[in-house]
Amino acid sequence: MSNRQGFIGVFDSGLGGISVLKKLVSQLPHEDFFYFGDTGHNPYGARSADDIFDLSKAIVDNMVCKGAKAVVIACNTATAVAAHKLRTMYPQLPLIGIEPALKQACDAHIYKHILVLATPVTLRMEKFHQLRDRMCACNSANVKISALACDGLAHRIEQGNLDAPDLDNDLRTILAPYIGSVDAVVLGCTHYPFVKDRIVSILGNPVCFDGAAGVAHHVRDVLQDRDLLNDQIERGCVTFATSAHDAHQLDLYEQFYHLPQ
Ligand code: DGL
Repeated sequence: MSNRQGFIGVFDSGLGGISVLKKLVSQLPHEDFFYFGDTGHNPYGARSADDIFDLSKAIVDNMVCKGAKAVVIACNTATAVAAHKLRTMYPQLPLIGIEPALKQACDAHIYKHILVLATPVTLRMEKFHQLRDRMCACNSANVKISALACDGLAHRIEQGNLDAPDLDNDLRTILAPYIGSVDAVVLGCTHYPFVKDRIVSILGNPVCFDGAAGVAHHVRDVLQDRDLLNDQIERGCVTFATSAHDAHQLDLYEQFYHLPQ
């Protein structure tokens, strides 16, 4: 029997995945969502692949036990490390991940220099190398693709306080080698859309891509194909949970959820 009334589990290493959750809710307003932020183990981008896999598996196990009808890995890092293996462990579960939206940027065929920003782990993984090689092969010599590991940035965003001057200084330092030299930027970490305007303005106004809207469309298509869309008339609900020891972290999640984007 199909589990149309089940919830959709969404997780990230912290609050970054809320940027994806917002797109999911606007695409699928009648679904119930359970968002888990693993802030207690943030940042994933500084952890070993084994660690990230174990943490992701524990979260998916838990969501499945609670009755999730689908799980969205709203984290590029966890997707790169764990999605493939988790799919083999849960062949019946719709398990949708996110990857840097490099294809969307390349498909436009108008950008000469595309910069991908992501965590060090995402950029080290085979999945990203394959994506980049595929894009270079389809676009011949017309496009230059650069990748920049933004060490520490997701963790800083996880602290909130986005207007503090230290964040601006960090961004300027990280992005310095590319200021004025790229015409498209791909936000390959779900934390970065929360500082999108600043990234774009520091870099000199390139066109910006992130994978959240694409993921939301894909989730809707997958649920529709499997007859899993919730048929309730009322709007669904969104519930937040975290591994953070600080109870205020959930307030921060709510705050980020309501930030204009
Ligand atoms: N938000 C995550 C991503 O999309 C990872 C951030 C981190 O924990 O390093 O990659």
